[in-house]
Amino acid sequence: MVYSKSYSVKDIVPGMTISKPVLGNKGRVLLGEGIILSERIIDQLVNWGIQQIDIQEINQTVAAHVEDLMECVRQTKENYEGTLDSLKTYFEQTRRYKKLSVQSLRDLADNSILQLVNTSGIISYLLMLERKDDYTFHHSLNVSILAGVLGKWLGITSQELNDLILAGLMHDAGKALVDINILNKPEKLSGKETEIMQYHPVFGYELLKDSKELPETVRLGVLQHHERMDGSGYPLKLSGGQIHYFGKVIAIVDIYDAMTSDRVYKTKADPFSVIETLASEMFGKIDAEFCSVFLQNISNYLTGKFLRLTDGRVAEVVYYDNVSYSRPVIRTGDNEFIDLNKNKVIGISEVIDV
Ligand SMILES: [Fe+2]
Repeated sequence: MVYSKSYSVKDIVPGMTISKPVLGNKGRVLLGEGIILSERIIDQLVNWGIQQIDIQEINQTVAAHVEDLMECVRQTKENYEGTLDSLKTYFEQTRRYKKLSVQSLRDLADNSILQLVNTSGIISYLLMLERKDDYTFHHSLNVSILAGVLGKWLGITSQELNDLILAGLMHDAGKALVDINILNKPEKLSGKETEIMQYHPVFGYELLKDSKELPETVRLGVLQHHERMDGSGYPLKLSGGQIHYFGKVIAIVDIYDAMTSDRVYKTKADPFSVIETLASEMFGKIDAEFCSVFLQNISNYLTGKFLRLTDGRVAEVVYYDNVSYSRPVIRTGDNEFIDLNKNKVIGISEVIDV
């Protein structure tokens, strides 16, 4: 069985697993549950002045523990796939009847999706996921889960968390009102078609207009998920403080999920190049503070993972130097430490085990 035990920071050692999130001021998550401690992370905890930390303890054989972990993955898969099937049914009804069954989606968000948000290792699960053809359904579900995960890292209240998960789930629901021929067109869209496509946040807002039981924040999250901090987004070209934080959170996870999936970028990008893009190309366009919380926590999940390098070697992610989350310090099989931030000749070609 796995249980949680409180340790003094001076007694912890690399290799231990965090069982409860480490919180900073404003309730922000500094380190999420499930993160494996490295010397670097332990130093950080000391620097932050943290004195106690909850660690996973296992009182069972290794084989039984592995069996428990496999069971947990099986349950996550079952929950994810069941939720995806329900979502398909609701979204197909939306296309047919031009109505969104908000109560059914709320039930899905408050129960099975919240459970997925609270599953430790969900980030890895989403990166491992084989997506079939149903891009829109996978994407809606993943954005909903990731918005919830980022919301938790930001330390929002549980009511706000439920609303944010729901807004993430419905963020692209307005696409159900876009002509199917435009939506599925493989070629580049014409100017007029792009204009219609970029209207989907407004269609989404319209679908929710009469659902008086919904807080306005959910509608704003849907309406504003393509707005950008510098005013370069759509549909209303809002900027900075005009954008509700639900819109800002969904924007970040929307880009992250699109890039880590197969469809939009043709070949699935490894999480490090996605981090690189989010940190550089999106500079000034997405909320810097939220993005930094997101990247820091995603990077911590990637510590200890194995990579294939562009020179063919396999290496482990050891730590980040705080300058670049996309170019970590790695250790190769022959025990060579390489700071990829300094050695730009070597690149990461894939993450082998997420
Ligand atoms: Fe969208």
